[in-house]
Amino acid sequence: MELINPLVQEYAERFSSPEDALLKEIADFTYKNHSESQMLSGHLQGKFLEMASTMIRPRRILEIGTFTGYSALCLAKGLTDDGLLQTIELREADAAIARGFFDRSVYKEKIVLHTGDAKKIVSELDEMFDLVFIDADKPGYIEYFNLVFPKLEKNGFIFADNIFFHGEAIVAEPKGKNAKAIKDFNEFINNRIDIEKMILTLRDGLYLIRKK
Ligand SMILES: C[S@@+](CC[C@H](N)C(=O)[O-])C[C@H]1O[C@@H](n2cnc3c(N)ncnc32)[C@H](O)[C@@H]1O
Repeated sequence: MELINPLVQEYAERFSSPEDALLKEIADFTYKNHSESQMLSGHLQGKFLEMASTMIRPRRILEIGTFTGYSALCLAKGLTDDGLLQTIELREADAAIARGFFDRSVYKEKIVLHTGDAKKIVSELDEMFDLVFIDADKPGYIEYFNLVFPKLEKNGFIFADNIFFHGEAIVAEPKGKNAKAIKDFNEFINNRIDIEKMILTLRDGLYLIRKK
């Protein structure tokens, strides 16, 4: 399902600041070399993540699902001077690509990349976070939320990506396991009263969640 009118998308990209050189290189590299390049946040969503992070000015960011490192570098732009971003990637090959780009970034010293299963790694993190970006396997979203919520500061934010799942999650009876998992996650979030939430109709849908 085409969610965003391509003319609107193109216009919005043209009237937004361009990607910086390293982000453009990550995007070009990923589109050219990775079979799942559609997973990359991309120009507009990346710019939103940068803007939001710059508004929040987080000291501690957690990202679940690094992929080739694009969104981590967008989020890192908003960190405080003493800030740190931790990002978790299951697949060694993707983590190696991301590490190569992080090493060339001015945010190199502010990013800690963990390789392994986020469910295990998040459980082991003894930290509080100001901003969490959930962007890994869709059937894991509710578990990620439950693991992360106690480690989220009051007024801290969780952003969760692909909340429409290409339009497949918003129908009454979704078919695939990912679409079903996202529908369950959306209902789970909508039923909670201990958070403020809104869905941003950006790209594939981004849930913005604030802990009250
Ligand atoms: C949609 S991509 C992330 C895109 C990235 N945040 C960006 O915007 O460029 C999802 C990533 O999550 C990773 N992933 C899937 N299951 C995971 C798990 N259990 N723990 C950590 N990472 C996982 C995948 O290998 C994949 O690289």
